[in-house]
Amino acid sequence: MNILLIGSGGREHALAWKLAQSPICNTLWACPGNPGIKHVIAEVNGRRNKSDEIGELGLCFDMDLGDHAGVIGFCETYDIDLVVVGPEAPLVDGLAESLRTADIFVFGPDKAAAQLEGSKGFTKDLCARANIPTAGYVRATSAADALAALDDFAIPVVIKADGLAAGKGVIIAETRAEAEAAIRDMFDGSFGEAGAEVVIEEFLTGEEASFFAITDGVNVVPFGTAQDHKRVGDGDVGPNTGGMGAYSPAPVLTAELQQRVMDEIIRPTVTTMAAEGTPYSGVLFAGLMLTETGPQLIEYNARFGDPECQVLMMRLESDLAKLMMATARGDLAQTSAPLFAPETALTVVMAAKGYPATPEKGGKIQNLGRAEREGAKIFHAGTAEVDGALVANGGRVLNVTALGANATEAQAKAYNAVDQIDFESGFCRRDIGWREVAREAGE
Ligand code: AMP
Ligand code: GLY
Repeated sequence: MNILLIGSGGREHALAWKLAQSPICNTLWACPGNPGIKHVIAEVNGRRNKSDEIGELGLCFDMDLGDHAGVIGFCETYDIDLVVVGPEAPLVDGLAESLRTADIFVFGPDKAAAQLEGSKGFTKDLCARANIPTAGYVRATSAADALAALDDFAIPVVIKADGLAAGKGVIIAETRAEAEAAIRDMFDGSFGEAGAEVVIEEFLTGEEASFFAITDGVNVVPFGTAQDHKRVGDGDVGPNTGGMGAYSPAPVLTAELQQRVMDEIIRPTVTTMAAEGTPYSGVLFAGLMLTETGPQLIEYNARFGDPECQVLMMRLESDLAKLMMATARGDLAQTSAPLFAPETALTVVMAAKGYPATPEKGGKIQNLGRAEREGAKIFHAGTAEVDGALVANGGRVLNVTALGANATEAQAKAYNAVDQIDFESGFCRRDIGWREVAREAGE
C-alpha cells in the first residue's frame, strides 16, 4: 500500500513511525513532513528497495494543499492508496472530501463533518439535538446579542470564538467586565473570521481528560485516553500553548467512565452525524470535563491531538495502516479492535525559548542519539536541517517520549533522555504527568 501523510508536526512524525512499522505499508510519502519524518521514510522506502523508483520525491516534498486538484493529480500519478490527513486546517478546508469524491481513500472527515472542530456553535447545536452532556450555551453573531446573553450566565463564564483560532479562541472570564471585553475583542476582529460568531458557555468544573475513537461513519471503536498540559509553565501556569506534554492512558477515565463517554457522547455523535447526511469518518478527539455528574463534552477535534498522538502511538500494538484503511473504506466492523500496551507513555515537549509568543528560531540541537539510547523515542516537530546540522524551526521543537510501567517510571525515563539533549535555546516543563505521578505516590 502506498500512503501519503499530510502534515509536519510531532503528531505526523509519530504517525509516520507507526505506519512504517506496518507490513502492508509499501511506500510512504509526506507533505510537507519534517527531518524526523524524512528519516522514517528513507528507512521504509530503503527497506522495500524502492528508493530508486521514488527518487528524491520519496522523501518529504511540498505542494499546495489548497489546490485539491493538484493533490488528486499527485495521488493518481504515484498510485497513492491512502491519504492520512494529520492537521485540522486541510480537513476544515475540505481536502479529505475532495479526495474521497475522486475515489481516493482518505483518513479524515469531509468538510461538513469537520465542522465538529471547525465550528464550536455547530457542535453545541449537535449536542443539543442529540442530548449529549455539555455546558449550557448561547450562540451570538453580534456584540449586542452576546452582551445581552451574558445576563443568563453566572461568573466565571467562558467566551469562545466560533471558528478555528489555533487554540487561542477561548477566554475564561473571571469577571463580568472581562467577559464584556472578550466579546468586544472578538467582534472587533482580533480573531479574524473565527470571531465573526461567538459561543458563550457555562463554566464547568472538574478534571479534564481526552478520549479518542475512530469511526468509519457507522462503526465506532475506542482509541485510547490521554491527558495533556496546555499551559506553558510548571504547575500549569502562564499562557496556553498547543500542549507542552501528555501521557496515556489517563486512569482518571476509568473503564466505567469510558463506557459512559462511548454511550452518552461518542455514539450519539456518530449516529446523529450519519442520520443528518454528514457521516463522520476518521478520528474523533473528545476534550472532556469530568464533572460531579459525569463526563461532559468541552470540544471535539477532527484529528489526533498533538502531542496526545505521540503517546497513543507509543502504546498502539495494532497495525495502524490497516486500521486507517479500514476506517477509510468503511470496513471497521470487519477489523479487530485496536490494542494498546498496558504501560504508560509520557511525552515532554521541548520548545524554543520565547514560545508561545515569539519562539527563537535557528538554535542548534545535538545529542538526540544519546537521548534515544536512554530508552526514549524522539519525535520531531519544528526542526530543520541546515548544512547538515539540526536546528529549531518552530515553537514546539521535539517530543521526548518514553514508556514505563506507570507514569512515575515513564516520567523519569523521559526526563533522563531530555537531560542528554543539547538544545541551549530550548526549554521544557519539568512536571509533565504531575497529576498521575501524585496519585501514584498516594498523595
Ligand atoms: P477548547 O478550545 O474548547 O478545548 O477550550 C480550551 C480550554 O478552555 C479547555 O481545555 C478548558 O480548559 C477550557 N474550557 C473550555 N470550555 C470550558 C467550559 N465550558 N468550562 C470550563 N473550562 C472550559
Ligand atoms: N494538544 C491539544 C490539541 O492537539 O488540540
